[in-house]
Amino acid sequence: MGKIAVYPGSFDPITFGHIDIVERALECFDGVILAIASDIPKSSLFSVKERVDMARLALKDKPDIVVESFRGLLVDYVSTAKATVILRGLRATSDFDYEFHMASTNKSLNQSIETLFMMANKDYFFVSSRTIKEVASLGGSVSGLVPECVERKLKERFEALQKKR
Ligand code: PNS
Repeated sequence: MGKIAVYPGSFDPITFGHIDIVERALECFDGVILAIASDIPKSSLFSVKERVDMARLALKDKPDIVVESFRGLLVDYVSTAKATVILRGLRATSDFDYEFHMASTNKSLNQSIETLFMMANKDYFFVSSRTIKEVASLGGSVSGLVPECVERKLKERFEALQKKR
């Protein structure tokens, strides 16, 4: 078995920024697991199944990228998956504090797991799931920032939420 990296996150929803990171990571690793956290502190727009389905559809042409969900501590999931690396993307210095704390916590929980950071592609520096949801909720276009399947799902979800109001 080759070198496997785990790319964890909420992916609520997956964006082209995430896809760019995971595709570039494949140049460095034999396989990458995109691991979608089931228990996230913030409330998610999409269920874990919807987030997994969207990511699988968006990455269906990349057999070396496996999409899974996980529960509990990330380091435990990484060990079970027989991986040794946690991969995270960095968009700007503003990401650093949060990432530094997370990497340090994970290191204290399991010394044998390293966190590696990749700089986001300049085209996606400003792309985050949070801003994508905000733009889509207000009827703005997110075309070119998320895969088509995600664009469709966002439209459906916000239309349904609008009808409920
Ligand atoms: O996309 P996000 O929301 O920045 O991802 C954060 C995530 C899911 C990677 C992080 O919250 C996580 O690892 N959650 C699993 C629980 C855990 O292990 N917590 C301790 C590390 S901070």
